Amino acid sequence: MLFDRIKQNPDIVLGLATGGTMEPIYQQFVARLQQEKIELSRLRSFNLDEYVGLNPQHPKSYAAYMHEHLFQHIGYDSQRHFLPDGLAPDLDEYCRAYSDKIRRQGGIDLQLLGVGTNGHIGFNEPGTPFDSRCHVVRLSERTRRDNSRFFAKGAIVPETAITMGMQDIMEARQLVLVATGSAKAETMARFYQSDVTPDVPITALKQHPDARIILDEAAASQLPDAVRRQYAVSDKITSGPVRRYA
Ligand code: GLP
Repeated sequence: MLFDRIKQNPDIVLGLATGGTMEPIYQQFVARLQQEKIELSRLRSFNLDEYVGLNPQHPKSYAAYMHEHLFQHIGYDSQRHFLPDGLAPDLDEYCRAYSDKIRRQGGIDLQLLGVGTNGHIGFNEPGTPFDSRCHVVRLSERTRRDNSRFFAKGAIVPETAITMGMQDIMEARQLVLVATGSAKAETMARFYQSDVTPDVPITALKQHPDARIILDEAAASQLPDAVRRQYAVSDKITSGPVRRYA
């Protein structure tokens, strides 16, 4: 998906996500790069979020994640690849500038999204207003517990993070949300059943004109059968057709 989109439009602005769900997506992208060359020198990207207080070299920072999974393979250029800085001295001012920078670059063409078990997208926790811009967020206990699996045993998961706001995300011209594994089954059932509400941030996608959702069998397992058939349900997320939802 990423590969073909960049091939079609080398000037694309991507919105990038982190988390376990995204790892196979970057892996497949890098594997394809080894078989076929594409123009990457004009690609621009904005990352969704970052923990406050972790420097980019910290192995659990999202900057380190992006370097490991993508940038070391495609070349990192700080003038084109933007990641929120969790060490910015004035975080509120920094966040304002980050949202502005997205707009100055012409907005995001394709935004990748995962989803938290509580329905968060980026780090927009339940209750975040839909008109929010990039901001500092206090992470919920559930999110910190979920993400503790990435940290060493006993290590403290940061309590705060920077995230693109709901409006920054919704302004992307296309959204592609991927959810895999049984831990996301209840979340996706809730997404399906719920009206559009900030209490379940992922429901905002129902209002987006071009939002696609890709689920594997496990993540789709609590959806009604008829709905399941609408999705790209397969055990390999690349092998099914990508269907549009909403
Ligand atoms: C974190 C990130 C989200 C991501 C979510 C799901 O909280 N801030 O952007 O979507 O985790 O992560 P995983 O794919 O590891 O389940």
